[in-house]
Amino acid sequence: MIILQNGVFKEREEAYLDLDDRGCQFGDGVYEVVGVYEGAFFTLDEHLERLERSSREIRLVLPLSIEELKQSLSELAEKNGLENGSVYIQVTRGACARNHAFPDSSVRAEWLAYPMNPRKPSLEQLHGVGLKTSEDMRWLRCDIKSLNLLGNVMAKQEALENGCYEALLHRNGMITEGASTNFYVIKDGAVYTHPANNLILNGITRMKIKEICNNENIPFYEQPFQLGNLKEADEAFITSTTIEIVPVKLVDHQIIGSGVPGSLTRKLQELFKQEIQ
Ligand code: PDD
Repeated sequence: MIILQNGVFKEREEAYLDLDDRGCQFGDGVYEVVGVYEGAFFTLDEHLERLERSSREIRLVLPLSIEELKQSLSELAEKNGLENGSVYIQVTRGACARNHAFPDSSVRAEWLAYPMNPRKPSLEQLHGVGLKTSEDMRWLRCDIKSLNLLGNVMAKQEALENGCYEALLHRNGMITEGASTNFYVIKDGAVYTHPANNLILNGITRMKIKEICNNENIPFYEQPFQLGNLKEADEAFITSTTIEIVPVKLVDHQIIGSGVPGSLTRKLQELFKQEIQ
């Protein structure tokens, strides 16, 4: 595999990360995962815009322009012959002797990009999955796609250990999102999801779903949803770049709707498929 490190193409084995990289020591950096379909990036501009925003919010100066990054990423995909999969991009505040405070301006941000080939969850997309509820222990800036993912990691692991596919995070019963996905419920033909504020990551897939709903006259409400109201939901689903749209049939021991993927979730899956083709 060919990877990109600070603008230089290398074999994966030649990549080198400094012991004092702030990404490792403090999770002091930001990242993106961008999907690739039939050799083309999907919603690349939106992902790079979010990367720029995340960097700005943590006062990290990107070491290259978005145009330069775009050019490098397409070369990376080409060099790897990447047809379907995704590319991981990471930027950290650089490497210097460990100290919580920012390094001085002579320390340059370090960046990496490389292809990933995550398994597409085809069976899960077809049959639906179960979620495990978990108190959302994360900080109050979940809108930043930062490398600090311990709250997400702990919740995901707990979900897996309980035979579930994903965690369903909530703050005092108010559902926010999944450990690495956005969450939606469907009630009487309308889609409900948490507002895009500081408590969730505004997923690029979420933005696409919103756009599809608007185009199709499917009501899309950005309103918090309570765990206690899940029993009234007709359908539920989760989304992300890597899983696209996966129906939810179970939350803890509670069956959602009829317990099988519903018709509006199916319709959204179909419409989303048209977007990526
Ligand atoms: N995760 N919420 C969280 C907490 C996420 O980590 C992600 C994405 C999403 C969905 O965002 P998008 O639709 O832009 O992929 C929502 C990525 C895929 C990851 O960490 O691997």
